[in-house]
Amino acid sequence: VSSLRLGVAGLGTVGASLVRLVDRHGAELSARSGRTVEIVAVSARDRSRDRGVDVSRFAWFDDPIALAQSADIDVFVELIGGAEGAANAAVRAALEAGKHVVTANKALLAHHGAELAALAESRGVSLNFEAAAAGGIPIIKVLRESLAGNAVTRIYGILNGTCNYILTRMEREGLSFDACLADAQRLGYAEADPTFDVDGFDTAHKLSILTAIAFGTEIDAGAIYVEGIRSITTADIEAADELGYRIKLLGVATRSESGIEQRVHPTMLPKSSPIARVDGVTNAVAVEADFVGRLVLAGPGAGGDATASSVVSDIADIARGDVVGTFGRPASAMRPYQRATIQSH
Ligand code: NDP
Ligand code: HSE
Repeated sequence: VSSLRLGVAGLGTVGASLVRLVDRHGAELSARSGRTVEIVAVSARDRSRDRGVDVSRFAWFDDPIALAQSADIDVFVELIGGAEGAANAAVRAALEAGKHVVTANKALLAHHGAELAALAESRGVSLNFEAAAAGGIPIIKVLRESLAGNAVTRIYGILNGTCNYILTRMEREGLSFDACLADAQRLGYAEADPTFDVDGFDTAHKLSILTAIAFGTEIDAGAIYVEGIRSITTADIEAADELGYRIKLLGVATRSESGIEQRVHPTMLPKSSPIARVDGVTNAVAVEADFVGRLVLAGPGAGGDATASSVVSDIADIARGDVVGTFGRPASAMRPYQRATIQSH
């Protein structure tokens, strides 16, 4: 069997961890899938930057689109980020060239997921994105595969590690919002533009992806009510604490007779609730479905290593030849998005 050759575009927090992970577990990954899995080429902006991993052994591309189209790769792994620009152009180029794509880019999927899914399907390749929602938690597989025999009614939780890290440290240590955000950036949790984290858009992007898979509806990031955590003060957190609550930034998607309601906003949760107890960069996702009941999955929501773990689960699926459809069904079988008529916040 031929080897599975990976081209990795983006060697920042996640890309560097991916190189380390493949170095450590590549042989086992290959043994599991019966196919040698190897990184053969990479792309980033600055060739001379020290990334803490040796990338000199891989073919170097200044242009991620040229990497995406290279005849020397089978899978294009996009770890650049952003809904438009280089990431968008390179992912399209890869799919058009008949390459499988693995991406951690929730902004790209939230805004262009429907067209990209149709493009992947038309070329008979996979578009996989386990890392795009809740970092290391395998929530995409759970919704796309494990819950295939269920009608999901609600999905909600903490979907942004940066915000939960900030809220936790403000609460526990009384630190300022800005100091906590600076630490989240230093630790590699925040987006390149942290506005996406703190203003709720990153949670909204992830929620729109989960909604599309859970309810089988066309992705619609514009249908979400979004409010972030920028205005939350330590005084708000203390007041909530005195009343027996903790403040968490939640994403919530509910399906009812009238349609789907999606919202993102800070929420007061009773301290005894399982999601209220989730601290730091940890995320937690609850799914309510008719046959299985309620599931709660918790784990690291951001950070290079946990995210690389999810990226590799997608690569392993491709190595094994598993194709499940981008949003868990053929693009033509996605239902139109119907916004619920009644909204309560
Ligand atoms: P970083 O900002 O750390 O890394 C981005 C990388 O992309 C850098 O190596 C950069 O190159 C490269 N890059 C930027 N523009 C170009 C370009 N035009 N051509 C080629 N390379 C380019 O981002 P992260 O690793 O944190 O995130 C990557 C993706 O993963 C994003 O979509 C993010 O949302 C997602 N994600 C991140 C998580 C995290 O915890 N960090 C968790 C889950 C998902 P250079 O290094 O030379 O500047
Ligand atoms: N910036 C994101 C977060 C990365 O903090 O959750 C993981 O998607």
